Amino acid sequence: MKNKKYILVSGGAGYIGSVTSKLLLENNNQVVIIDNLSSGRISAIPKGAIFIKGNIGDKNLLFKAFNHYKFDCVIHFAAHIRVEESMQDPKKYFENNVLSGLNLLQTMISTNCRKIVFSSSAAVYGTPQKLPVSEDAPLNPVNPYGQTKKLFELILQEFAQAGLLDYIALRYFNVAGAYITSDDAWGENHTPETHLIPLLLHSAQNKNKFVIYGDDYSTLDGTCIRDYVHVYDLAQAHILAMKRGFKEGQVYNVGNGRGYSNKEVLQTAQNISGIRIPYKIGPRRAGDCPVLVASSKKIKRELGFKPIKSDLKTIIQDVWNYHSLTQK
Ligand code: UFG
Repeated sequence: MKNKKYILVSGGAGYIGSVTSKLLLENNNQVVIIDNLSSGRISAIPKGAIFIKGNIGDKNLLFKAFNHYKFDCVIHFAAHIRVEESMQDPKKYFENNVLSGLNLLQTMISTNCRKIVFSSSAAVYGTPQKLPVSEDAPLNPVNPYGQTKKLFELILQEFAQAGLLDYIALRYFNVAGAYITSDDAWGENHTPETHLIPLLLHSAQNKNKFVIYGDDYSTLDGTCIRDYVHVYDLAQAHILAMKRGFKEGQVYNVGNGRGYSNKEVLQTAQNISGIRIPYKIGPRRAGDCPVLVASSKKIKRELGFKPIKSDLKTIIQDVWNYHSLTQK
């Protein structure tokens, strides 16, 4: 179809990238996914997407793809995302998340593709001084992963100021949930899995003991508080960002504006699965901040973002359904 727009999704075989690709296709876009499958899975690539296996650090591959498809816009997910790993191997993170990303921007500029939506992270804030965190809060990442996201935002900002491109950076808070259609399902499936909600439901299924990292924080029940956004709502935020258009540079938090403690999440996971999850309290995990809750006023006001699935019960129910569908 000639009048469909081609969108490049880097990292489109990953968790958030694949759900966003699916929604882009549902919104009548042509989707081209570039993914090196280092953490993404071929089975997550939605039907109808064009898939190119490769690395965004590969100049030739990118140049050919950009010349062939004349992309209207890029949505850039491809990145390493594990905080602990970034502390052990920062070089890997700066190389992939910054250098390869810069290669993507250079290719965009040289082929006249101006628009990019960037997956940034609440990790750019570090431990916030004021809650809920708004976009103008100081950026003080506490790990190399967060530093790479901050640095890439800075590059985008400078490039936009120089008139080279227009961007929207979405700072994700805690993404969870699954997207299930009549004939397919997309969910979180990292190896190794480190995130709270999928791990809790694995414990419910397999009866292995779950460890809560610390209950001596100064919160109501002593456990950390996070702001969960459903992957479907987050994917919709990308579509809204693209529809609303790009004016140089814009940065938006994407969360739900409501925090839940780890114990509240555990309780909800038990209620939904109907299974008592065995758990113990372990030591604090390095780099965890006690409370991280987003102000999502800006994205609601400016892009019309309306999360419809981001209440904790729906998120956990969808992950539970996804696990039941995909795991023995
Ligand atoms: N937790 C446990 N036990 C576990 C796993 C997690 O108690 O087995 C706790 C963590 O200590 C934390 C909460 O559950 O208090 C949430 O942890 P996650 O690992 O699910 O998520 P994070 O808040 O650490 O990380 C998320 C994103 C990162 C991003 C960060 C921003 O996954 O990519 O938010 O601060 F960098």
